[in-house]
Amino acid sequence: MVNKITVVGAGNVGATTAQRLAEKELARTVVMVDVMEGIPQGKALDQWQSAPIEGFDTRVIGTNGYEETRDSEIIVITAGIARKPGMSRDDLLNTNAGIVKQVSQHIKATSPNAILIVVSNPLDVMSYVAMKVTGFPRERVLGMAGVLDTARYRAFIAEALDVSVRDIQAMVLGGHGDTMVPLISYTSVSGIPITQLIPQAKLDAIVERTRSGGAEIVKHLKTGSAYYAPSSAAVQMCEAIVLDQNRILPCAAWLEGEYGMSGLFLGVPCKLGRRGLESIIEVELTRGERDALAKSADAVREPMGAVKL
Ligand code: APR
Repeated sequence: MVNKITVVGAGNVGATTAQRLAEKELARTVVMVDVMEGIPQGKALDQWQSAPIEGFDTRVIGTNGYEETRDSEIIVITAGIARKPGMSRDDLLNTNAGIVKQVSQHIKATSPNAILIVVSNPLDVMSYVAMKVTGFPRERVLGMAGVLDTARYRAFIAEALDVSVRDIQAMVLGGHGDTMVPLISYTSVSGIPITQLIPQAKLDAIVERTRSGGAEIVKHLKTGSAYYAPSSAAVQMCEAIVLDQNRILPCAAWLEGEYGMSGLFLGVPCKLGRRGLESIIEVELTRGERDALAKSADAVREPMGAVKL
């Protein structure tokens, strides 16, 4: 357990993240910050009152300022506006960039040693904004996307085969958007290559559904976007860091030559431990996967160039 984890944004993703962090007792205190008066305070109080029933001792507090967040070890950034139907993640770009910039300035002033996990979309670009504004090293700025995309992919495969989700090993790389790259060559069911179990056409359909996994949920919800699986994914990354697990998880990380690319955040296999990003793992890719990853990188570079800081 660490002393303090802050969640910025007490909306759907933020509040669910805070609750999951508390239930897992990953910190002594979980602080929720939001610009909406009363919302973080009310939700935090409500969550804290579930503690005697759920049996956790993590204190959850809510605030509109950053004093209470001072010296957080980990900060999950979920502040922003959520996608509406028909809105692409990139439409969110400049509104959310302004929000993440302001949040990052506060973080730099109050928690200069924190590890940041960025969830606000468009994720890869918001991670860049957070790193640029805080000046934190790449080891302490990670984006949450790959764990979520991989979870969706694993869930669809488990459903198709009617087997336990626990037995599906997979990795989805690239940007968090339509160009994400599910690695079929590294997908297995308890070590059995997925291509032996699912015909190619069905696999292609699963890959396609994974790519539009977020949009499928937005279409159902109409007034918001996904938050149960996104919060689970962010908390899995926190857990790997807090417990120094050295887990290999697909995360958006700042590339410095890995996969032949530099100067952008992109989803790659990362080793997560107590220092945050311990290392990036380079795996062999097929020509098709390499091309798809390059295309995904282009889709991240474009909005990155358009962001006003
Ligand atoms: N500081 C703190 N909180 C802020 C700020 C800010 N400057 N600006 C907005 N917020 C808060 C809002 O008040 C709101 O409570 O961020 C919260 C966002 O919550 P929701 O609208 O419920 O959105 P949510 O579904 O949680 O998604 C948040 O995560 O997955 C991504 O695409 C999603 O970018 C979106 C983010």
